[in-house]
Formats: sequence, structure tokens, C-alpha cells
Amino acid sequence: MRIGICTGGGDCPGLNAAIRALVQSAACSKEHIEIVGIYDSINGIMDRPLRSKTLSLSDVSEILFRGGTILGTHNKGNPLNLDKNEKAKKIDSIRQGMKELKLDCLIMVGGEGSQGIASELCEHGLNIIGIPKTIDNDLPGSDQTIGFATCVDLVAHSVMRLRSTAESHDRIMILEVMGRDSGYIALHGGLAGGAHGILVPEIPFEFEALYKKVLSRSQRGRKFSVIVVSEGASEKGRNMTYKTESSGASTLGGIGQYVAQKLYEISQMETRVTVLGHLQRGGEPNANDRILATRFATHALELVKNKQFGKFVIIKGGKISNIGYSEIARFERQKLLADDEILHTAEAIGICLGR
Ligand code: F6P
Repeated sequence: MRIGICTGGGDCPGLNAAIRALVQSAACSKEHIEIVGIYDSINGIMDRPLRSKTLSLSDVSEILFRGGTILGTHNKGNPLNLDKNEKAKKIDSIRQGMKELKLDCLIMVGGEGSQGIASELCEHGLNIIGIPKTIDNDLPGSDQTIGFATCVDLVAHSVMRLRSTAESHDRIMILEVMGRDSGYIALHGGLAGGAHGILVPEIPFEFEALYKKVLSRSQRGRKFSVIVVSEGASEKGRNMTYKTESSGASTLGGIGQYVAQKLYEISQMETRVTVLGHLQRGGEPNANDRILATRFATHALELVKNKQFGKFVIIKGGKISNIGYSEIARFERQKLLADDEILHTAEAIGICLGR
């Protein structure tokens, strides 16, 4: 058997742990299974010449702890976003690529964009298995995605560090974090780090509520506050905030500065902004992500061995299982639900969610 693996979308900690687990579990299998790494997401199998490498145990030695992905990745658009004829040609070239590499199956470790592509490939009869990854934790079906836990650790750690300098200077510290239009990173990281306010995209915020929070803290002698702001958060009645990258691309960002400015005007308390940015995607995975990636990859191998293709590996209630790609209507980003227990937990201990 030969199994291809690629990593698609924005990178995150834990991708290499998944690649390693697949190669190691294949090597431990009684059957003869070869793992073929496909470079740069699906591109390595779409482009000609094909770009791939049969991965040996020594290729994956010591990568359990390494950030990023040894296979490379990219998150610039959907190569299948074409008219019907052109799309059919692209899918054919992927099918042909799999044939040339003698692959029985392709494992896609990816986020919502890459899994949408994988789902289309399944519909066209290709043997695909998906593994969920993204720091944003916004994929349908799975309680957790590879990369999220490590990102939450960093956000929590950053809030802790900001608390001490905020306290020394009697300042309001704003920490802007990633997550696109989902607030999982901000909510979990803020909760774990002891933030006083957390603004998520799912709850349009009001300055009145934030001001009340910092004021009440100040009145009881706590003249500092740390507020975590999701890059996709917005003030009630306003749109999300975007910035322009050097390439001219417009991406989410800048809401932290907006909150800092307005809060200063309202409270006259000094504010400072930290944008955590791509630090959230880089670096080594924590233990939770290493374990999750390993469990996902070994489950994926079992699926391939049993010829159960078209499956998306998930974790639900602590158990690893899978669902059919066909059961997921669309790979739309998941958002925090209004009745999410963790939102209530945050408010139950007095964290201001801006409402
Ligand atoms: O999807 C992961 C993510 O990290 C988002 O939270 C963030 O908005 C985006 O990727 C940034 O992507 P890039 O800068 O690589 O385009």
C-alpha cells in the first residue's frame, strides 16, 4: 500500500507530529505500507513534475517537537475555484498524479479551506481521508483541531505576562489574537490567562460594558486590566476591522488599536496594544497537540487499511472517531454558540465579554 500525505492551509504546531505518527505507525504495521509526502499542500500532486518524497523513519526522526511542516503548505486560495471544465481538468491531474505515485489514498491534514477541497475530491471518486488542523479550532465535526491547544497556551502565557507589566504601570493592556470570525482562541486563552475582558466576533461588544469593568476594578484598587480581543471582534453596529498587507491583500487586524484608543478616550487610563500575530502559529506543539496529532494520524492509517475512504477524522467527547465527508454539508467555519458553556463560565467569574 502507498499512502500520500499533505498539509494544507496556514501552518500550525503539530503538523509534523501527525506526519511522524503516520510514518511510524505504517512502519509498525504488519502490512507493507509506504508513506509519500506531497509538497506544498495539494500543489505537489497537481503540478508537473510531481513534487513528493517517500518518507522513511529517518525523515521523521526528531520532528515530533518541530513547528511548521516539513512538507510545506500554502493558504492562498482554492485551486478548484474554477469554471466547470477547468475544474474537471485540475481534478483529473490530481487523479493522474495519485496514479503515477501509485497512491491508494491521500491524507489531507488541513483546515476549512483544504478540507473543502478534499471533500470535492471525494465527490469525484478520489480516495481521501481528512485530519483537522488549525489554531482557530473552527472546523465542523471535531471538538478540537491540531494546533489549537498550543496556541491557547501561548495566549494564556501572554496574558499572564501582560498582567504584571499592566499592574506595575496601572495600564489597560489589549492583546489582539487570531481566530478569524471565531472566538475560540480569545475565549480559551483569555480564560486560562486570567484576562479581565474578552472580546469575540460572535458577541458584538459595547464600550460601556468594558468601561464599567475597568472602572469597577479600579475602584477596588486594581488599577490595571488585560483585555483579549479577537481579530474578528467588532463593536456593536460596526464592521470587522481590516489591515492591508505588504502585498496589498486585506486581512483582519487593527481592532486592538481601535479598542485601545476608544477605551483611553472614555476612561483616561493609559492603554497599550500587543498584537500576537504569527507567534500563534509558529514554534513547537505542546503535549496536547502532539498527542492529538498522533491519535488522529494512527486512526487515519487504520481507516486506510480498512479501505474506509472519504472519512474525516475527529475527536468528540474525548474519543477519536470519524465522519463521512458527505455528512458535512459544507466546510464552513464553526463559531462559538450562544449557549456555549465556556462563555457562561467566563461571565460567571466576572470576565467582561463586552455585553
Ligand atoms: O486560519 C489560521 C489563521 O492563523 C487565522 O487565525 C489568521 O487570520 C490567518 O490564519 C492568517 O493567515 P496568513 O497571515 O497566513 O494569511
